[in-house]
Amino acid sequence: MSEFHALVPAAGFGARMGIELPKQYLDLAGQPMIWHAISTLCACPDIKTVFVVLAPGDEYFARYDWSHCGDKLVTLYCGGTTRAASVANGLLASELEADDWVLVHDAARPCLTQALLNKMIAELRDDAVGGILAVPVADTLKRADAQQRIACTEPREGLWQAQTPQMFRAGLLAEGLARCSNVTDEASAIEALGLQPKLVASDSSNFKVTYPQDIVLAELLLNKKM
Ligand code: C5P
Repeated sequence: MSEFHALVPAAGFGARMGIELPKQYLDLAGQPMIWHAISTLCACPDIKTVFVVLAPGDEYFARYDWSHCGDKLVTLYCGGTTRAASVANGLLASELEADDWVLVHDAARPCLTQALLNKMIAELRDDAVGGILAVPVADTLKRADAQQRIACTEPREGLWQAQTPQMFRAGLLAEGLARCSNVTDEASAIEALGLQPKLVASDSSNFKVTYPQDIVLAELLLNKKM
């Protein structure tokens, strides 16, 4: 029987946040941002191990108390220069079986819920390819020109915003990333192999904390949850 594991790439610096502390360690509802997603993944009974991929020189992670995660939490100090490289390095270091499922989740999506995790695992566990959490695009989309004026309105029918977790077999994902390393999510690497990952309907609460104004919203949601 294949097992379920999670892998959290957390070797980025969060340049768009405009601060020196890597954004995954920003205080969010009394804990570092990364604590929330890791705690949710560790609390999921289906998930056997949660691998966290850190920058080789990371000085922050070990300062926090992770005892509530027990043996499930495994740190790998092998982050790369891009998100895709961090995931590829982490997969190699994790030594997972090719058939095992791996749920790759951004450290910067702290509002992931057990309900979304369970829904994703239930919808994909018998799928031949795997898939991702995503939400249908709700806003009207504008393409900008060089002067930041509207060049045209893009049709939004059939468009979805990709989120994480992104859930694939470890072997397939490693193969995809080895063939196609300039991708911004795991699904793109699987698509490059000619496969079609499934879209599992999520909601906008599982957003990525990217800009300073996202912090207030994330704290509101987390305080409601805790
Ligand atoms: O910067 P962005 O928000 O797109 O990063 C998404 C996730 O990828 C974050 O959890 C970040 O820490 C991780 N990352 C990484 N290695 C990099 C760049 C980003 O693990 N070199």
